[in-house]
Formats: sequence, structure tokens, C-alpha cells
Amino acid sequence: MKTDAFMSINDVSCYYGDNKAVKNVNLNIEKNTITSFIGPSGCGKTTLLRSINRMNDLIDSFRVEGNILLEGEDIYSKNDKEYVQGLRKQIGMIFQSANPLPTSIYKNMILPITEHYRLDKEALDKKVEEKLKSAAIYDEVKDRLHKTALSLSGGQQQRLCIARALMLDPQVLLLDEPCSALDPISTYAIEEFLMDLKKQCTIIIVTHNMQQASRISDYTAFFYQGEVVEAGLTTDIFFNPKTKLLSNYITGKI
Ligand SMILES: Nc1ncnc2c1ncn2[C@@H]1O[C@H](COP(=O)(O)OP(=O)(O)O)[C@@H](O)[C@H]1O
Ligand SMILES: [Mg+2]
Repeated sequence: MKTDAFMSINDVSCYYGDNKAVKNVNLNIEKNTITSFIGPSGCGKTTLLRSINRMNDLIDSFRVEGNILLEGEDIYSKNDKEYVQGLRKQIGMIFQSANPLPTSIYKNMILPITEHYRLDKEALDKKVEEKLKSAAIYDEVKDRLHKTALSLSGGQQQRLCIARALMLDPQVLLLDEPCSALDPISTYAIEEFLMDLKKQCTIIIVTHNMQQASRISDYTAFFYQGEVVEAGLTTDIFFNPKTKLLSNYITGKI
């Protein structure tokens, strides 16, 4: 199936062995927007998110049906290692707990890029600075770039991980509950940054925080037991829910 959407998720089902964790999901993702995935725990949000950059390929029992088109190309059409690695460069991912490597802030930043490209020191330094600035963490780390990343606070580590993902200039950024372990100030910094980043990048974020979804996202998809029950403009999802399930969820009854 071909569509004009930047990304289209067509009749996608995901299985772990016999467990169908994502059920026949259809979603279009527009370029340069933020889409939130919301819904109770265990309803398939992470599974679908991780299918978008083929992270689930690493799980033996995992299987996907349907297709995910990125600019018209089925991301599951090729299986060679180079293709999948290239896809993960284009589609960055941020996890719930920050995962900096136990090395310096600077080395964390250059690692993804030195694996893929060759840049001279000056260009590299410039890029590190630019990406730390866009993730709103530069001022806090500029005097300690060669100190260990593990000395940063949780919120700083998460912003560092985001800055690191940006080193590859991803087309799409997937974030799985990136703020769940963070204080309100770090959360606010990340939200502000994401709203700015969408000028350059298309963002999909899983969040349990209803305020966060309504503050930052253009579109929202509500998941329940593996299905997308409702999806659309965030304002419609929150202010004009069509199903009882969704209105129960946003009013905290589920
Ligand atoms: N690695 C895995 N192996 C087997 N089953 C999994 C795995 N990850 C998730 N699941 C199952 O898939 C379903 C959806 O989980 P998940 O996508 O993590 O939901 P959510 O992110 O909405 O909390 C759950 O039933 C969960 O137990
Ligand atoms: Mg999850």
C-alpha cells in the first residue's frame, strides 16, 4: 500500500510468540509533528514504537505483520545488516532510563558519529556544541565535557542521551517515556526542546503524562489492549473523545 503520508503504519500487528501485543494498527504520522502514544501499561505502546526502528528484531520470538512505510518505503522490506543499521541512524530512539556510557560527556557525544562518519576535530567539536545546545544542556556541561557522564543528574543524563541521538541528524526521533524518572524542571526543559526540535525532525513519544501529551503533541493515539482505539488531533482526543474507553482513561477511571 502506498500513501502520501510521511510515515504510515498499515494494519500492523506485533507478536511475541503467540501473544499478539499490537493488533491491526493503522496510523499516519505527519512530517515535523509530535505524536503521542498514550494508554494503560501493557497495551503495546513500546512494542509499536520499537517496531518503527526495528529494535524488536533483536527479540527472537518477535514477529511483525502489515507494513510501516517511511516516505513510501517499507522499512521491513530489506533484511541486510547495513540497511537495518542505516534505518536506526535515521530513526533515533530514547529510552525510559537514560543510558549514557561510562565515559566522558564528549566521548558519549562523538561515539555514534565516529562510527559512521569521519569528521575533523574542529567540525566534531562544533557539532557536539550545537547538539548539546539544542538539547538545552550545553551551559550545564560545557566546563566538564571531559568528565564522566555518570556524574550528571538523571535529567542531565537524559538530555545528554537526546543530544547524542541528534548527532546523527535523525529524520525521526522515538522517545519511550523519556521523562518518567525526571523532576518537573528537567521535564519542562525536554518538552520545550522537543517542541523546537520538531522543525527538523518528526517525533513520536510514549507518555503516561496526560498533561505532557496535551501540551506538546499535535496528534495523539490512544492504545488499549493492543489496539489503537482512537487517534487524531490532540485537541480532539482530549476535549472531544468519541469512546467511553478514552474518556474514562483521560479522566483517570482506568
Ligand atoms: N520482550 C518481550 N517479550 C515478550 N513479551 C513482551 C516483551 N515486551 C513486551 N511484551 C508483552 O507485550 C505486551 C505489550 O507490552 P508493551 O509494548 O511493553 O506495552 P506498553 O509499552 O504499552 O506498556 C505485554 O503483554 C507485554 O507483556
Ligand atoms: Mg512501555
